[in-house]
Amino acid sequence: MAKKIIEMSNIIKRYYIGQPNELQILNGISIDIYEGEFVAIVGASGSGKSTLMNIIGALDKPTVGTYHLNGVDISSLSDKRLSKIRNKEIGFVFQTFNLIPRTSALKNVELPMLYAGKSRRERISRAKELLELVEMTDRSSHKPNELSGGQKQRVAIARAMANDPSIILADEPTGALDSKTGRLVMDIFHKLHKQEKKTIVLITHSPELASETERIITISDGSIISDTGNPDIGADHAENNESVRQQYEENSEASADNSDDMPKPVDLKKKEAHEK
Ligand SMILES: Nc1ncnc2c1ncn2[C@@H]1O[C@H](COP(=O)(O)OP(=O)(O)OP(=O)(O)O)[C@@H](O)[C@H]1O
Ligand SMILES: [Mg+2]
Repeated sequence: MAKKIIEMSNIIKRYYIGQPNELQILNGISIDIYEGEFVAIVGASGSGKSTLMNIIGALDKPTVGTYHLNGVDISSLSDKRLSKIRNKEIGFVFQTFNLIPRTSALKNVELPMLYAGKSRRERISRAKELLELVEMTDRSSHKPNELSGGQKQRVAIARAMANDPSIILADEPTGALDSKTGRLVMDIFHKLHKQEKKTIVLITHSPELASETERIITISDGSIISDTGNPDIGADHAENNESVRQQYEENSEASADNSDDMPKPVDLKKKEAHEK
């Protein structure tokens, strides 16, 4: 039985936007993710994907609910302890890369290891190894502004791998890239999954990319409406109970004629209203 990396039970997230207003963004999310899984999270714009990702990544705490990351109860930790765990256990990849400007690719990859207290020698050797893994060896002395979008994202993925995290969390990592470059980046995630045995959670708006993973979790208005192993891939670690299956089937029927994953006008409006 594979080890549980993520164990979330009934996670609720509310934002207080000035009395008496309160927005509930996540309505009781329960997910278990096992070591070695490659999971996609999909859903319309504003459905709560990034909010969930921030909680999985211990960047934010749930209002209600319990969360164990690699066996550790996250809710009880101090901020200092939390940032240590984050640096060790989580590798983040963002849509906008978030590399440190005016700093070489190699130094960007070294940074999480510097925070983790690794020696200079160890940092450099691991950073070189990771840049080779993402095929960026020949650009290791380049600064972010001297790299293309796809190259920046490859460096960001190498950085995410620096401390050999338990899980890679990627929030629309191909969102700012053209489809060909996005393809190359997706291939790197497959390599991390297959070759490095990484557990990966990928948020994406692309149904094609989601369909390449082993399990697709669909979120709508802050709730999971389906969680299913991908029959095309043949793996199924998902919660396989009857009710989830039924929900999934009902949902696919309901959305059969509305299958594109573009943000719907109603969601955008809702999002704008929330941002005010
Ligand atoms: N700090 C906050 N305060 C109040 N509301 C927030 C806050 N952060 C997010 N929200 C609201 O929570 C909802 C979900 O946002 P979230 O960013 O998780 O959506 P998403 O599914 O990632 O969307 P997208 O696909 O556009 O990235 C939105 O309606 C948003 O306006
Ligand atoms: Mg988002």
